Amino acid sequence: MRTYSIAAIPADGIGPEVISAGIEVLRALERQNSGLKFAVETFDWGSDYYKQHGVMMPEQGLQTLKKFDAIYFGAVGAPDVPDHITLWGLRLPICQGFDQYANVRPTKILPGITPPLRHCGPGDLDWVIVRENSEGEYSGNGGRTHKGLPEEVGTEVAIFTRVGVTRIMRYAFKLAQSRPRKLLTVVTKSNAQRHGMVMWDEIAAEVALEFPDVKWDKMLVDAMTHRMTLHPQSLDTIVATNLHADILSDLAGALAGSLGVAPTANIDPERRFPSMFEPIHGSAFDITGKGVANPVASFWTAVQMLQHLGEHDAAALVMEAIENVCAKGILTPDVGGTAKTADVTRAVVAFIESKVQVAEIA
Ligand SMILES: NC(=O)c1ccc[n+]([C@@H]2O[C@H](COP(=O)([O-])OP(=O)(O)OC[C@H]3O[C@@H](n4cnc5c(N)ncnc54)[C@H](O)[C@@H]3O)[C@@H](O)[C@H]2O)c1
Repeated sequence: MRTYSIAAIPADGIGPEVISAGIEVLRALERQNSGLKFAVETFDWGSDYYKQHGVMMPEQGLQTLKKFDAIYFGAVGAPDVPDHITLWGLRLPICQGFDQYANVRPTKILPGITPPLRHCGPGDLDWVIVRENSEGEYSGNGGRTHKGLPEEVGTEVAIFTRVGVTRIMRYAFKLAQSRPRKLLTVVTKSNAQRHGMVMWDEIAAEVALEFPDVKWDKMLVDAMTHRMTLHPQSLDTIVATNLHADILSDLAGALAGSLGVAPTANIDPERRFPSMFEPIHGSAFDITGKGVANPVASFWTAVQMLQHLGEHDAAALVMEAIENVCAKGILTPDVGGTAKTADVTRAVVAFIESKVQVAEIA
């Protein structure tokens, strides 16, 4: 019996809806494979917790999470709490505190989903975006002086370190090397940002020497949006800064049909701490409580979690189930269907369980 301890933090908005759907999928995997067990402990941290306690998570939160094999996270953000408090109170302290420096965001067009681009079908858009997740524009460095006065100043300082850039570049080259096309695009803005971004370009060229079999090129982030939209087939693995990749991956999700299908993994590649798996999307106030949140992103991030835990067969089975259910047209409204979150979840669970029967009969 292989047992994995999972800390579930559903948090806000549609987070609890998609994370409970994801836990149903983990339970289906347990029924499908009697050698697999997920010991899930759910934490009620988030905006409601903040309203009661004045903090998004307890002071000892990271200490509590440290003993888990993985963290399964929903979304943070509430209409009546400022976004910088929710984000900096829960999600970012986990990413930074556990040095989850590689944020990995796969995107592809799933069968059955009609993407917004006319000439782009399954296979034409199959990317992994690697986002630097520990520093850059989201390092938290900066401040405000003379608050409220006409001469008020606000600074937001992007921090790029040689250690930080080298390790994410190496991660991205390695990932590109493991994919069939062995193709990496390094995104910066080194024309206008002439210090840290120029260092990115230089470090990319240095690290590239370690990976002679990986083809790589460079793009400025503005031109990258053009290439993603007009020439999606020309891309495979992409690496960019915290901010640039954050924005580009929302575009990637939309080009694949919806943010509701886009997953992300916050990885500590050295495995000193638990890694965290979540959908890319936020708490989606507009659809919270309506039962229509697309759970595919939370299923797909569970696939990433299973891969990280070394459960490759289970990961492949969940991905096959997602693709099968989408291909059958069991889709939520954001991707053109009429199904509810529960319908998609039921269909994915049924597919996984059907594999038990086949195995037992065989
Ligand atoms: N990682 C995170 O926790 C995270 C990420 C992004 C935004 N946020 C927070 O979420 C709140 C809302 O932010 P936002 O509106 O900019 O982004 P959002 O991702 O919550 O929503 C953007 C749009 O995508 C749709 N959408 C998102 N997920 C969907 C799903 N699973 N199924 C169907 N449709 C889906 C929403 O309905 C909305 O129209 C804010 O407080 C923001 O700070 C949190």
